[in-house]
Amino acid sequence: MPSLNTTYLTLPLSSPLLASASPMTGKLDALRQLEDAGAAAVVLPSVFEEQLHQEKAFMDHFLDANTESHAEARDFFPDATLYTRQTDHALEHLTQAKATLGIPVIASLNGSTREGWGHFAKQIEDAGADAIELNLYEISADPNISSAEIETRQLETVSGITQNLSIPVAVKIGSHYAAMANMAKRFEEAGAAALVMFNRFYQPDFDITSRTASRKLGLSSSREMLLPMSWIAILRGQRSLDLAATTGVHEITDIIKYLMAGANVVCSTSALLKHGPAKMTEFKTGLTHWLEENGYNTADELRGCMRREFVDNPELFERANYIKLLSSYPSS
Ligand SMILES: Cc1cc2nc3c(=O)[nH]c(=O)nc-3n(C[C@H](O)[C@H](O)[C@H](O)COP(=O)(O)O)c2cc1C
Repeated sequence: MPSLNTTYLTLPLSSPLLASASPMTGKLDALRQLEDAGAAAVVLPSVFEEQLHQEKAFMDHFLDANTESHAEARDFFPDATLYTRQTDHALEHLTQAKATLGIPVIASLNGSTREGWGHFAKQIEDAGADAIELNLYEISADPNISSAEIETRQLETVSGITQNLSIPVAVKIGSHYAAMANMAKRFEEAGAAALVMFNRFYQPDFDITSRTASRKLGLSSSREMLLPMSWIAILRGQRSLDLAATTGVHEITDIIKYLMAGANVVCSTSALLKHGPAKMTEFKTGLTHWLEENGYNTADELRGCMRREFVDNPELFERANYIKLLSSYPSS
């Protein structure tokens, strides 16, 4: 029987198959089911930077209000203690998950500025998280902010967090950098132990009759894995930090392709939300069978065998491919 054992973020894992952040990993029962079904690690739902700022604003406002009327009230704050903070929920969930599961638990932070994270990231570490995934989900529509400013801020955020922690930090990024390979290098230099590729960006849809924009969260399809897969294949030979694949894992072949590109681990959300935690067993069994049938002793043997420099036609990953691809389309 081939071994699926691997290492991610220095953590020994029983397989390269992770459950990424979603409402499913926010429930203790579902976490148990995911572990039973074979998930090698789980990423908990993100705590958002905006939540931290709101909570701080609330507490500051409350402190000011009480300080003005009764100086001694600082010691009591009855209303403030009734206000259960979302960050407290997140820490409690993390503590419970750690107490319940035997597999590594990765906490997730979502934001792109360094303010506020330092203290909370330390609390996460103290609560026992095995690692942190920092999601830099960001859409910059401000014409006065350049990509250089955004990149510098993101890198400072990463180094600000990694410097104060002893647990590893993975950085979940979008695919829209003008110079992805350079950013990957700089994220590694800033202390990222892994890149999680890529965030799926959610766009609003329009209702053309009512002329309203609506929120729409569709699940992914396998087709969407081609972009992260090709970047993983490019970066695998350039960087030594870990690469985690997220987006579009629905079939066993999707997992195999990501590993061949060079992913250390392959994460799943949409397929688990669609089919339930038991889908993880199907993934694990399917991967084991495929390795066995194809003569591999370990899943690690697959890693990077299709990275850019190992394929016969590396130009497929480059601009030359674009020109050939367009001209290869039948003209009539
Ligand atoms: C309902 C839902 C909630 C999610 N919540 C989070 C989250 O809290 N933090 C995060 O980093 N990603 C979150 N994601 C993104 C997933 O972790 C994952 O990266 C993305 O769905 C792509 O993987 P998939 O194709 O397997 O769905 C969420 C996705 C969905 C569908």
